[in-house]
Amino acid sequence: MCGIVGYIGKREAWPILIKGLERLEYRGYDSAGVALMQKDSLLVYKKKGKVSELKNFVGDKNVISGVGIAHTRWATHGEPSDVNAHPQKSNSGEIAVVHNGIIENYLSIKKALIEKGYHFESATDTEVLANLIEDIKKNTHSNLDEAVRFALQEAVGAYAIAVLSADEPNTIIVAKNGSPVVIGIGDQEYFIASDATPIIEYTDKVIYLDDLEMAIIKDGNLTVKTIKNEIKNPYIQKLEMKIEELEKGGFPHFMLKEIYEQPRSIRDSMRGRINIQDGLVKLGGIEKYEDKLLNAKRIIILACGTSWHAGLEAKYFFEELAKVPVYVEHASEFRYRSPVIYDNDLVIAISQSGETADTLAALNLAKEKGATVFGVCNVVGSSIPRATHAGSYTHAGPEIGVASTKAFTAQMTVLLLMCLFLASSKGELSKKQMQDILSELDGIPEKIEKALKTNEEIKKIALKLKDAENFIYLGRGYGFPLALEGALKLKEISYIHAEGCPAGEMKHGPIALVDENMPVVFIANKGNSYEKLISNMMEVKARKGIIIAIISEGDTHVKEIADFVIEIPETSDVLMPFVASIPFQLLAYHIALLRGCDIDKPRNLAKSVTVE
Ligand code: G6P
Repeated sequence: MCGIVGYIGKREAWPILIKGLERLEYRGYDSAGVALMQKDSLLVYKKKGKVSELKNFVGDKNVISGVGIAHTRWATHGEPSDVNAHPQKSNSGEIAVVHNGIIENYLSIKKALIEKGYHFESATDTEVLANLIEDIKKNTHSNLDEAVRFALQEAVGAYAIAVLSADEPNTIIVAKNGSPVVIGIGDQEYFIASDATPIIEYTDKVIYLDDLEMAIIKDGNLTVKTIKNEIKNPYIQKLEMKIEELEKGGFPHFMLKEIYEQPRSIRDSMRGRINIQDGLVKLGGIEKYEDKLLNAKRIIILACGTSWHAGLEAKYFFEELAKVPVYVEHASEFRYRSPVIYDNDLVIAISQSGETADTLAALNLAKEKGATVFGVCNVVGSSIPRATHAGSYTHAGPEIGVASTKAFTAQMTVLLLMCLFLASSKGELSKKQMQDILSELDGIPEKIEKALKTNEEIKKIALKLKDAENFIYLGRGYGFPLALEGALKLKEISYIHAEGCPAGEMKHGPIALVDENMPVVFIANKGNSYEKLISNMMEVKARKGIIIAIISEGDTHVKEIADFVIEIPETSDVLMPFVASIPFQLLAYHIALLRGCDIDKPRNLAKSVTVE
């Protein structure tokens, strides 16, 4: 939520900042702005709306500067508007701040500043921080870095900030607590960003600040210290990301590109981790804590959104194959309950971004209560993998479309591998069973290639259903979490109300909604629940609902019942969710496209949710 960018060095800052903001727009797009250092003043341009609107607004105005900070916003304090856009300036106009996070005690600080004569134009907590820094700087006659450091000792909450001061033209101060920030190190130049994507084309050397640390970039030098003034020796990491991964590669939207990348991303998530011949799974990242997994009496999964749905699929994997009970928790609920945790519980935190504030807080709570915590994350070096004891990355590559697609199937891949490792170590699966599942898993990317061929058929179905006001998604067993995920995808990007539900629960409520205008999507592959699903389908048909069924290739029976069918290659129940995800994702994509929605940047959403 919110992206920050900064540059200081020998190049022109403006193009670097704008390109950086475009890369970070997945974090929010309510407004965008920049502050550019001039000789002894700050030039600030900001605009409600997307980065493209900021670019249009700036047009050919002066942007010449070698030092600047920029921001793309997901509104928390104050509606999306020009005034609430960042950078926020102090009253004198000398200090500018960009901020990702929330200063929780901003009201009390604001009150004290108002009493001292400060005034506020925006509703943001960030303007309060800018004025607090100014106030401290003036009263203590300190440099910007010291003023920021003192201000952060007063501020309570989450932040990644970059700060400029007009009287120190060769300085940027960066600080972090809770929200992420990366600093790229070039040749006498520095790049600042919420993640590494704006940095990768300039340098592969980066440092990730830890919580309560700040970086002082001054006259070409970088110093890292804590806000308590202890000097740190930062670890310089090498980025592994490739620039092509951040571009659309000929696809009209990142979401479509990412849907089509799934055969590759699933293969990458398995690579080096499976040995079909010996029926073995090896996950290097959890090796040191394997005994915790093997001895776990139960597994608690913490996640949000799509990652929560991957966790729900994992429950089905672990309980069926490894015979371990699994509890799947919404991180935002778990952290505010009084959850009962035993020291032989294993917690798995799932997160694409690795930054979701609720998931991070929930796992920290579980850690405090003595649990061992594994992470299943996509973004290397992000906060969640750094907070967990051990974990396995999904190797999906950067996911930029706000609606998660390839991260979901990559998460399921890694979770299934964890489950298979456990099941075989515990003797719940024989070598032969392991060989069979692993070789089927190995064939999944090919089945997904085939499922992607349903694209044209799905486009036609989307054209018929694009004006529906509601949708119901139904599935049983492994199809149930998928029904939830299918409904979420449609909601997120097309703004059609959609509800996912276990097919067996339909008769307890959702069936009241079914009439000739209600599309009902069934996951009706050939598997354990096939007959039962057919009965549910008949119940919908009897009430004239519009039936869209995802079926196993060659199923003629459902074809006679359903209004529309989407045929996918047959697989076992366990592996069905990987293949059946594809038509859900494509259906949501095409409906949203036909409705003229902004697919990669759906309204009100953001990809990295760093607020509670
Ligand atoms: C946001 C995104 C979702 C994502 C969820 C959890 O809501 O829009 O796509 O599933 O956050 O994010 P995480 O990065 O923790 O998987």
